[in-house]
Amino acid sequence: MIVAIDGPAGSGKSTVAAALAKQFGLLNLETGAMYRALAWKALQHGTTLDDATAMTALTGETIIHLEPGSAGNRVLLDGTDVTDLLRTPEVTAAASHVSVHPAVRTWMVAEQRSMGLRAPSGVVMEGRDIGTVVFPQAKVKVFLDASVEARGDRRFQQQGSPSAGESKEQITREIAERDARDRTREASPLKPSPDAMVIDTTELSLDAVIARVAALLEAARK
Ligand code: DC
Repeated sequence: MIVAIDGPAGSGKSTVAAALAKQFGLLNLETGAMYRALAWKALQHGTTLDDATAMTALTGETIIHLEPGSAGNRVLLDGTDVTDLLRTPEVTAAASHVSVHPAVRTWMVAEQRSMGLRAPSGVVMEGRDIGTVVFPQAKVKVFLDASVEARGDRRFQQQGSPSAGESKEQITREIAERDARDRTREASPLKPSPDAMVIDTTELSLDAVIARVAALLEAARK
């Protein structure tokens, strides 16, 4: 069983994917974390994010592994756990830059396919191109979307302590910028697969979204 969940930042993908994986006993793999890990490494090495040749060379000396755990995926970069370093605004912006390069994507997709196919009872894989490129044969495909304001608001609420940082307006602006880059890049732009169920979550509770996708999964299992 392969479940593909795609959508932009703040659409609820991670929460929905984690809940479904738990409910149906599937492995949950968060592919955005892999782009974040590569971006983090590039920042450490001083690699120019927009330099396709340099970024492609970096993939050749990088091993990224997602290790599923009860509190989500741990991200192992060249054997070191970098999970807690990947959610800063700097890494978030950098990940969107490194993900435009076709050769970087080809490398990521190969890794993601092999991780997904190794999952014994199936996988819920979450990202931007899972239903279109990584697993076009997925049995269940969902594309979650929401207004940019709703997504900015959710990310702002998730930020935790207000002193952690950014204003709602700033977060919303950054999401809009990332969206534009993710949706207009030439290599596998963010868009729903024609056979995906598109759910606008702007006015829906996460429980309602989870229930809707769970019903799809139940139907696909029969
Ligand atoms: O889901 P996320 O915010 O952690 O993703 C970080 C960046 O990685 C995002 O800007 C787009 C990119 N990404 C991608 O291009 N393809 C994926 N399958 C997952 C993420």
